[in-house]
Order: sequence, then C-alpha cells, then structure tokens
Amino acid sequence: THVLVLAGGLSYERDVSLRSGRRVLDALRATGLSAEMRDADVSLLPTLEEDPPDAVVIALHGATGEDGSLRGVLDLCGIPYVGSGARASRLAWDKPSAKAMLREAGIPTPDWVALPHDRFSELGAVAVLDRIVSRLGLPLMVKPAQGGSGLGAAVVREAGAMPAAMVGCFAYDSTALVERFVPGTNVAVSVVDLGSGPQALPPVEIVPRDGVYDYAARYTAGLTTWHTPARLSSVAAAAVAETALAAFGALGLRDLSRVDLVVDEGGQVQVLGVNVSPGMTETSLLPLAVQAEGLDFGKMMAALVGRAVT
Ligand code: DAL
Repeated sequence: THVLVLAGGLSYERDVSLRSGRRVLDALRATGLSAEMRDADVSLLPTLEEDPPDAVVIALHGATGEDGSLRGVLDLCGIPYVGSGARASRLAWDKPSAKAMLREAGIPTPDWVALPHDRFSELGAVAVLDRIVSRLGLPLMVKPAQGGSGLGAAVVREAGAMPAAMVGCFAYDSTALVERFVPGTNVAVSVVDLGSGPQALPPVEIVPRDGVYDYAARYTAGLTTWHTPARLSSVAAAAVAETALAAFGALGLRDLSRVDLVVDEGGQVQVLGVNVSPGMTETSLLPLAVQAEGLDFGKMMAALVGRAVT
C-alpha cells in the first residue's frame, strides 16, 4: 500500500501541519508501510492524477485540509483517505455551523453569536459589542469562526477588552464567533473508529501554565501540563466520553476526530469544538490519548489506512 501524507499547505497552521505530517509519516513507516509526505500545493493535482496513491492521510490543519475542499478533490479522483468526508468536514470546520448542529442534536455548547465583519462596521463597533456583552455576559471567548490552534482567539474578561479582541480575530477570518466563556476543566476527547464503531479514547485534561491555551501554550514544550486521563470523577469521565461520541455522530464524522469540551463548575459537560484534522505533533492531544489507551500510534494510523483502502 502506497500512502501519501499531505502536510503543510497555505493555512495559518502550516508549521503545525508540517510537524504533524512528519510524525505521522515516521509512525506509518515504522509499521513497514510505504509512505511519503508532500506539500499540498497546486502541483498536487497532476500528481494525484498521474500517480495516484492507494490512500491519503490528511495531516493538513486549517483551510483546505480541514474545510472539506481537498477532501472533495480526493472524492472526485476516487482516492480513499483517512478521516471525515468533505461535507462533514466543511460543517465541523465552521464553528457557528458546528455549534448550531450540536445544539439541534441536544448536545450542550456555550451560547454564542456569529458576527460578520460587515455587520460589525455597519452598526458601529460600540453598539454591536454592547449588545453582545449584554446578551451573553462576561467573560467571553472570541475566536475566528474558522480557524485553529488558538490563532486569533482571546478571552475577554471586561467590555473594554472587546475591541482589541475583535481586531485580533478579524485578522484571521471575516466572521467572529463570540461565545460565553465557561470556566471549568478543559478536556479533549479523541474519537477513533478502527472498525468496530467510534470509540472514545481517554480524556486529556489541559492545564496551560498561564491560564490561556493559546498558540504558544499548545506548541512550546513546558507551557502546558496535560493529565491523561483527566482528573475527573468517574461520572464526569463517562459524561465527556458520551458527549464526545454524541458530537462525533451528530456531525457525521468518520475515522478520527478530537472533541474539545469543558466540564463546568456545576459538572455539566459542554462541547467547545470539534477538529476533523487534529494535531499530531509532539505536544498534541490525540497522540497522548492514543498512548494512554495503550495503542501504538503508527499501528493505529496504519489500521485507519487499511480501513480506508478496503
Ligand atoms: N488545529 C490544531 C492542529 C488542533 O486542533 O489540534
């Protein structure tokens, strides 16, 4: 089986993706599979046509790899790939769409407002922000509607900090997601399906040293402590696993994903987001969960490739 690992691309998360791709490549090769890695640039298209791989592993994060567009191209070429399909990825990637689907399915997610930049400038920043703060309260979380790795995201604890947070967010996307910030225990649950249905791996608890899980905290060794499994009661641990599986199902996901959740101070579980192309770097959460489950990362990825090609 000839596997093509796609990494890099032109998203803001290019560097993260190259690290994920390298790790996936090494792990697949260690199982004896013939794998190569390449960038997802325009020269990819003739390659897919002239020398199609047996399967693709998408280690791309952000636009193209995660938003369904590349997956649509692979569907068109008839090339199997590991991971969710184009439509499910497109919906999961757009945070307001994903949250609406989760809510529709009865899965708790913090209250939110999606704010396009045009509306923000039309009505005047102060009026819009006042309206949002009075509707959702403080603190708030501001994130690009489409994005990852904490880029352009900020916690807003007082109304005066909103304008700067919005500017930071609009640098990454033309629509902002403003949601109620939920204090509590932050966990990530990776969901994989190795053939016997989706399975929740042990929850990973995230404790950033400086309280904010931003880009630096995610990818700089020593800035975040992870507890695997998360320090949760057995009831809460079961609830996060169940909620993660429900989110995976509600969004129509396939093969593997990571669901980010918070257990709030009252013990209620809420879904913060879903990643169809979870980070696979040395400091990423899915590989930690795989290890905690006692699985070999390379063998797991190889099993997913095996499923994709059959
Ligand atoms: N967007 C990054 C890669 C993650 O969620 O892991």
